Amino acid sequence: MAIKHFLQFSDFTRDEFEHVIERTHVIKQKFKNYEPYHPLVDRTLVMVFEKNSTRTRLSFEAGMHQLGGAAIYLNTRDSQLGRGEPVEDAGQVMSRMCDIIMIRTFGQDIIERFASHSRVPVINGLTNEHHPCQVLADVFTFIEHRGPIEGKTVAWIGDANNMLYSWLQAADTFGFHCNVSTPKGYEIDRKLISPANRNFTLFDNPGDACAGAHLVSTDVWTSMGYEEENAARLAAFDGWIVDQAKMERAQPDAIFMHCLPAHRGEEVSAEVIDGPQSVVWDEAENRLHVQKALLEYLVLGKL
Ligand code: CP
Ligand code: NVA
Repeated sequence: MAIKHFLQFSDFTRDEFEHVIERTHVIKQKFKNYEPYHPLVDRTLVMVFEKNSTRTRLSFEAGMHQLGGAAIYLNTRDSQLGRGEPVEDAGQVMSRMCDIIMIRTFGQDIIERFASHSRVPVINGLTNEHHPCQVLADVFTFIEHRGPIEGKTVAWIGDANNMLYSWLQAADTFGFHCNVSTPKGYEIDRKLISPANRNFTLFDNPGDACAGAHLVSTDVWTSMGYEEENAARLAAFDGWIVDQAKMERAQPDAIFMHCLPAHRGEEVSAEVIDGPQSVVWDEAENRLHVQKALLEYLVLGKL
């Protein structure tokens, strides 16, 4: 039987997401009630980090522990990956010693090569092209705050990065629309989206993209791995800050999300991220809950 991986958002069907979301509600409630829930006793998650992380490491490590299992942290610096061991060999070896693997790395091709040599499910904890766990948490957070996301409008203001590509795939799966505004020179790479994808509209003006949106989201202007472009990006993204004026063009009850870490005064004003429409702390917490449901599903199947 083919192994189920979660390498990009489009790897799961709507039905699978509905299951994971339903399980997230149950698992989150148990956590809030201090009710032990240990379906993954004796199971091990290996986490491989080739880039920095706070939320992803913490949510996977705490989540696996809370499910009764163990999590092991590896990074490039301390492991043989940093000394050039082929990812295909790493996939063979690691997957013989554990039950599930999470990887944060650079190119999507790296995680795909790893997964094709793995005997166990592999989860994308962020690549240059995708961040599906974060968008799963974001969709769950929207549903918690505002109900079904189907038919709604999500405004994406800023860089055409890993978060945006996962949002565009989520729009296909859940049937919502993305209003996208990126500065010139930082547009969507058409090679990274499906030709059939019609669930987005491009806007030159970021304020126009916010008009009527139910959710406004942004992210850093310089993602990990692109640090050398920082000065050029700061200049090019001038005007793409999500501030109160832009939020006022969205629906009166629109919410604001940011996957974090954030730079106040660059991609978002302090007034917005620390204001009443911001749900960023719920969004961060929900990484824990959705990923516990994801781990449960990938290791044990539908319960
Ligand atoms: N949002 C997110 O993935 O955060 P970290 O980089 O801290 O893991
Ligand atoms: N787009 C950002 C997300 C960080 C969680 C990055 O890749 O650095």
